[in-house]
Formats: sequence, C-alpha cells, structure tokens
Amino acid sequence: MIQSEFDGRIMSAAYEQADSEGEESLRPRRLADYIGQSKIKGNLEIYIQAAKSRGECLDHCLLYGPPGLGKTTLAGIIANEMDANIVITSGPAMEKAGDLAAILTNLQRGDVLFIDEIHRLSRALEERLYNAMEDYVVDIFVGKGAAAKSIQIDLPRFTLIGATTRAGQLSSPLKSRFGVEMRLEMYTPEELCGIVRRSAGILGIPIEPEGVEEIAMRSRGTPRIANRLLKRVRDFAQVKGNGVIDRKIARVALAALEIDELGLDNIDRLMLTSIIENYGGGPVGLETLAASIGEEAITLENVYEPYLLQMGFISRTPRGRTATVNAYRHLGIPMSGGDQLSFEV
Ligand code: ADE
Repeated sequence: MIQSEFDGRIMSAAYEQADSEGEESLRPRRLADYIGQSKIKGNLEIYIQAAKSRGECLDHCLLYGPPGLGKTTLAGIIANEMDANIVITSGPAMEKAGDLAAILTNLQRGDVLFIDEIHRLSRALEERLYNAMEDYVVDIFVGKGAAAKSIQIDLPRFTLIGATTRAGQLSSPLKSRFGVEMRLEMYTPEELCGIVRRSAGILGIPIEPEGVEEIAMRSRGTPRIANRLLKRVRDFAQVKGNGVIDRKIARVALAALEIDELGLDNIDRLMLTSIIENYGGGPVGLETLAASIGEEAITLENVYEPYLLQMGFISRTPRGRTATVNAYRHLGIPMSGGDQLSFEV
C-alpha cells in the first residue's frame, strides 16, 4: 500500500489514482521487473534477503543521481520486496519541525519512509531526522511560553529512503547515517529498449523493433523520458500513421518534437550554441549561461548538464562550462581560432 503525504496531507487515494493513469502504471513493482542498474539490483537483493531472514528492517538507504532514473521506483520496489508500507514525502513539503514529527510519529514498525529531494530539508529538520534515524526517537514541543516543554517520543523501527540529485548538499552527519548508498547511472540504449518494449506492452501500443530503437536512442539515458516519448510517438502513429510505431513514424514524431538523433532538445542546443556563440566556447559560469538563455541555473545543472557531460558535449572547469569539439561538430559550427581546442580533452 502506498501512502503519500505532501504539505501534511495524506494523499493515498489521489496517489493511487494517479497510479493507474500516468507514469505510475509503468513503474515496475518488483526487482525482477526492474531493468538496468544491475549492480544496485544485485546488492539490494542481498540486503533485502538478509534483512528479511533476520526479521529486521532494511538499513536506511540513500539514492542519488540525475532526475528520471528511477529513485522513486526503486523505493517502491524496496517497500514491496520488504512487504512494507511506504509513506512518501519530500524535503520541500516539510517546513516546520511539526511536519516531520507528524510523519515520524505515524509510522508503523517496518514502514518505509521515502523522502524525495532530501537535500532540500532545512538544517533544523535534518538534525531531527538523523536523531530519528539513529536513536528512533523524536522530540516534540508542547505548550507555549513559560509552560512549553519538550517530550521525547519513541519511534518504531523504520527504513528511511532518501533520494537526491545532489548528494554533495547533504550534511555529513545526515549522510553518514545511511547504511546503504546507491548511485543511479544513466541507462544504456539496450536497457532503454527493454524499458520501451515493456511499457509499450503494458500500454498496448503496437511497436516494431526499429521504433523501439529510435525512441530508446533519443531518451538521454532516462526511462522517464523514454516513457514520455513513447506516449507522444503513439499519438503521431495514431493520427498520422496506421497506429503502429515503426522507424518512419518515430522519426516524424521526434522531428516534430524537435528532439535530434542523439536525444538533444531545444534547451540542450540553446545551451551549447550560447556557450559557443556568446562566450567563445567557454568557460562560462552556470548562472551567466542560465540568464543568457532564460532558464534556471538549477534546472540546467540537474536536468540538462548530466546528459551533455555524459555525451562529451560540455566539460566542467573551475571557471565554468566549456563546449567541446564534439559539440561544435554536432551543431555543425566550425571552430574558429585555436583557443577553444585547448578546453577540449
Ligand atoms: N519503467 C521505468 N523505469 C523502469 C525500469 N528501470 N525498468 C523497467 N521499467 C521501467
């Protein structure tokens, strides 16, 4: 069962409804159905089996990596495999100490508490959380003014699963209380093909192997993008084709979506052309670059940069981002002068 709590509201019914309609219906529920991240899967299988045979909860787990790689999915799978309930919240949803205390004191023994974007918890809440993780207690404050006092409440054993795109932003006392740390990697084209095939099967979308490949190759290593593209390409296949996704209709649809053959979209290309044309190939600071293309620096860093780095289109230097020779080649922009070459490795 999934319970979700945002802004202090229990949203279990709404969450389960979203389940059957959106991204949720495509999420694998068991480790055996989860494609990719083989190292993580292999280790998790052992940790889960060992914890279950001891009759204990799994240690607290920290999942990190770029968005869309399956952190929430894995948390759900861990809960299922442990036969546990999962309570879902996020760092920004908890503002006051009372928000966190309310969630903690409602946990049952063995529950999984999933905190997405855990790096966005305030320092004060971080401190309360790591006390709860280590000693299974939480202090709550009752009364006001001179009559105010704090009472310590014992908590049942639970497993915290924290997810973050930026593990470096967690304080070290919090980070050190996770017994398991798992870094999610971008998916290979073969793994993405498996995911697209699986999702098409669940959604009843007829698709040819070349259609699968075309979508997988342009999904920037990210299942969430693969599933989104699959649904959009299906729309084109229905309206402009015969309902079946083959290579031809996939190419038509992806061209209309302005996603190129390597999966770069408008913003990726804008980022690269801005570095090249406005800043002589770089280095340029992220904030400056973000302002020049009208995006938020944090979005560029979390959403766009990981794939551009992975593809070798940009490199990070202490003085900012530079475009590589590969970026010039991909965009068909000639490199003028010799100076940019020095930034490319
Ligand atoms: N859907 C989204 N992510 C998936 C994964 N890793 N395996 C299978 N299906 C998925």
